[in-house]
Amino acid sequence: MQQYADQLRADSKKIGFVPTMGYLHQGHLSLVDIAGENCDTVVLSIFVNPAQFGPNEDLDSYPRNEGKDIELAREKGVDVVFLPSADTIYPDGYQSYVELAHLPNHLCGLSRPVFFKGITTVVTQLFHIVKPHVAVFGEKDFQQLATIRRMVKDLKFDIEVMGGPIVREPDGLAMSSRNAYLKDHQRKAALSLSRSIQHARQMVADGTTDATSIIQQVTAILSEFAENTIDYVSICDTETMDPVSSIEDSALLAIAVNLNKIRLIDNTVLNRQ
Ligand code: PAJ
Repeated sequence: MQQYADQLRADSKKIGFVPTMGYLHQGHLSLVDIAGENCDTVVLSIFVNPAQFGPNEDLDSYPRNEGKDIELAREKGVDVVFLPSADTIYPDGYQSYVELAHLPNHLCGLSRPVFFKGITTVVTQLFHIVKPHVAVFGEKDFQQLATIRRMVKDLKFDIEVMGGPIVREPDGLAMSSRNAYLKDHQRKAALSLSRSIQHARQMVADGTTDATSIIQQVTAILSEFAENTIDYVSICDTETMDPVSSIEDSALLAIAVNLNKIRLIDNTVLNRQ
């Protein structure tokens, strides 16, 4: 992959990169479109990264379908699908990690202590292997996008980071590989995430700026379903993820819910008119 990337660069090709953990859906494929619109060659990686899963998380059961993923990538016009082995990324004796000091101490990082360290480490490696000019990440994982932007800035990666909007199912559910776990009866509870977000947007459109009132109403909507265990409902700064008490200009509303054992996240940027 590194040699191929060198060749592309020698041929003056602009490389666009979409890192994924596979089980591709339209959310992933929308990022391929963004890479394709901005670059000559699109590389998509598929690697279920063990370093970002905690000991009691779903690494072993994480959905996988390489054959179908390759087919979808090909149909979408991806030029290179990169599928490194766990041994390539983390060979025997591996001991190098990239970790941000503050961003992981918020939102998903609080209940998933190794999560962001795992992500920044693997993304650093993938950047060194794929050597992209542009890397595209989804706003679905808003804290991840903010973390990658910060890391790229801090560590002077010569890479332009682009964000892609959240792609949703027709019923509003944010697309996620983990939606494959949802049984029909759980889907109703899962829909409360996007519904509560819509409600919050309406509150802001109607003039509410107080974060506590919005959080209370969002929490009430999520709590209508006994299956939902709320991990967090937060209104925070879009770059630092520090909580804010009122929406001055814009702020991120981020939600994480465990539906039985299925972790679902959703978010929106609330903009004061
Ligand atoms: P994964 O969950 O497979 O997601 C890959 C990319 O697709 C991420 O940038 C994610 O934000 C984006 N994405 C997922 N669902 C989306 C949706 N509904 N709309 C728009 N974009 C969506 O995120 C990871 O993998 C990993 O942490 C990774 C960055 C690959 C590092 O291991």
